Parts: sequence; structure tokens; C-alpha cells
Amino acid sequence: MDKKRLIEKTNKYIFPSYKRFPVVIAEGKGCTVWDVNGKEYLDFVSGIAVNNLGHRHPAVLKAIREQTQKLLHCSNLYYSLPQIELAELLIKNSFASRVFFCNSGAEANEAAIKIARKYAKDQGKPDKFKIITMINSFHGRTLATITATGQKIFQKGFEPLPRGFCYVPFNNLPAVEAAINDHTVAVMVEPIQGEGGVNCPSDTYLKGLRKICDRHDLLLIFDEVQVGMGRTGRLFCYQHYQVEPDIMTLAKALGGGLPIGAMLANEKLKDTLSPGSHASTFGGNPLAMAAGKAVVNTLLHDGVLQHCRKMGEYFKGRLTELEEQYSFIKEVRGKGLILGMELSSNGTETVNQCMERGFLINCTMDRILRFMPPLIITEKAVDSLVNALSIIFRNREKKK
Ligand SMILES: Cc1ncc(COP(=O)(O)O)c(C=O)c1O
Repeated sequence: MDKKRLIEKTNKYIFPSYKRFPVVIAEGKGCTVWDVNGKEYLDFVSGIAVNNLGHRHPAVLKAIREQTQKLLHCSNLYYSLPQIELAELLIKNSFASRVFFCNSGAEANEAAIKIARKYAKDQGKPDKFKIITMINSFHGRTLATITATGQKIFQKGFEPLPRGFCYVPFNNLPAVEAAINDHTVAVMVEPIQGEGGVNCPSDTYLKGLRKICDRHDLLLIFDEVQVGMGRTGRLFCYQHYQVEPDIMTLAKALGGGLPIGAMLANEKLKDTLSPGSHASTFGGNPLAMAAGKAVVNTLLHDGVLQHCRKMGEYFKGRLTELEEQYSFIKEVRGKGLILGMELSSNGTETVNQCMERGFLINCTMDRILRFMPPLIITEKAVDSLVNALSIIFRNREKKK
């Protein structure tokens, strides 16, 4: 079927809830994808921080292939090996002592919100249910998670929203202190805001949040759905900041391309979910778990994290060279291989021009170009994108 027909059929049969580029992706390998016409693109989006090991990483394919020979699904009415193995791997390499598996980031955040509320109830504090979240955060698209999300644009039209959330500016500790009252149970934050524009915490922010939570007996929730799984050069983003949350959510890259989500919690929450209190049919699905295990092992043992840190520095340096040349670039920021370039005007034209030249990049909050290549990206690939950007920007200056 040709591209035009495919796009027409998509528009005919699928709700138009996504703003899509007119490209039909047919194949991917490593850092490259091909569309149905065979046009090649270097991928600096990674399925929005999903393909952290690149497309069809051999270790992930092997794990999936082997699991398909054994078991695709069984209910959580029973125990199953891949689930136990991935849980152990995550727990041995994080602050956590328990994990709940689900299928997406929103679902992991729902579980985090539920466990925070339940914890307070179990402590005999039924009036504590309010969660402080950050302006420009993004936590998902279910009713509770759009409400947790500190951006009105995602909430509009879906009212009435559930109660129990309030918003404060990111990187502002006094605002958190001021928002706390007798109903507050938790503070929920992305260690680096992804959708909100690649906003990084100050050196003291996350530690400051920990101190506030300890002082007021609140739970600290880190949403690492986008920045976890090696994206910043450590397995988890919080590991850069000498601070541990009580709850952390993961999804996206954990499944190596398969749908997955996980909510991890520390020792004090370990008895909060009792049999029947929370569940998911596909949570802990053997195929997704097998892929997840391959992802974590590859990140930990194949030098991917070191490579990510090195390439992150290199890439940021090259983007900063552009910032020094063009006044319409306001800032380059980020950590590891989640990098943002803030422009003074809308970035869509740049995204389209990159696409014409064979590069997938993304733009968030209208003006922030976001670069999230697979963590296995090479210097050569970074150079080729930076060269393309520099031609695009030079032509733009000429036009003026
Ligand atoms: C930080 C963060 N949390 C949650 C989500 C929601 O994840 P999902 O789309 O898998 O529900 C996203 C998705 O972009 C995200 O970036």
C-alpha cells in the first residue's frame, strides 16, 4: 500500500488524537529507521525515549525470541519466572524493595498515586490525600495523571477532574513548603522535566525536596518514565543527585520497545498493597518482562551508560557551538542524552527541515527542540545532525 493510501486509511479509521508527521515508518535498526518508500532517517527521538538501546537491539530480540518459545502470557493468579527475575534486577540496582508491574507510564503513576493515598489511610490518616506536583510537569493521560500533570492544556474538556492535586513551580523549594497543609501526602516530580521542555533541577533541588518531605512526613515520588533507564547516563536519573525517593515510576525504555510500566517503592511502603488492592491483567507479562530483563542487563554490563555520558557531553558541546553562533538559540540544556535547545520562536519548521534532510527530532512546548537519540548513538551521527542544523540555521539567518 502506498504512503498516501496508508495515511488516508489512518485518518479514516483511527481517532485523530495524534498530530502526526506525514511519514510512515516501516523498519528500524540501531539508530536508523526507514519509511515505506525506503527513505532513511537517523533517529534522535527514539520513540520518545523508548528505544534507548536503539531499534531491535540483538539482546532484546534474543530475549523476546526465547520467551516466545516458552510462554506469552499467564495471569497474576500464578507466579512466573521472567517477572521475578526483572523485579530482582530492578530492586538490586535501585533504592526500592518492592515493585508493581503494569503497562505504561500513566498506569505506573496511577499506581504511585494510589499507593501514596493508601499509605496514609493505613497510617490512620484518612484526610491525607493531596499530592503536590510541578507546573509544566507531565505524568500521563488517565484522569488522575492529567490532573497530576501541571499543564491545563492536557486537562481541558475532561472535567470534572479528580480532587487532590496542587501545583507549584519546578525548582522552587519555598513554593513547595508554602503549598503543604494537613491534607498533603506526597510530592511528585520528574527529576528532569521532559515534555515540559527539558528542565533540569538545580544541584540542591531534589535534595531539598527530600528534606522537606522528611520534615513533614510526606512521600517523595520520582517520575522517571522519560529520564530513567539510562537516558541521563546512569540507570536512574536520581542517582546523579545523592537522593532517594520513596516511590519511583518507570515505563518507556524499560521494555526495549514492548509496552511496560513499573512502580517501585521503598521498604516503608512494602506492605501497602495487599492482595486484591491493585492489579493489572497484563502487568508483569512474561514477554515484556523478558525484554525488560535484557534491557537492564545490557544497560548495566555493556558500557552503554558510560557511552551515554560521553556522547551526551559531546552532543551538548556541539549544540552549544550553535548556540554561540545564533542569537535565536536561547539555551542548550539537559543531561546525558536528553538534550533541549530553546529557540526564541516556534521549532516546528526546524523539525520539518531536519526530517527532509533525514533526521527525526522533536519539539516540545512549541519552542524547545528535544534530542533523545538511542544511547548507542555515535559521534559521526551527532556530527551529521549538527551539520544539518547548522545549514538550516545559516539559511534562516540569510532569509532575514
Ligand atoms: C515523565 C512522564 N511520565 C508519564 C508519561 C506517560 O507515559 P505513557 O505514555 O506510557 O502512559 C510520560 C510520557 O511521555 C512521561 O514523559
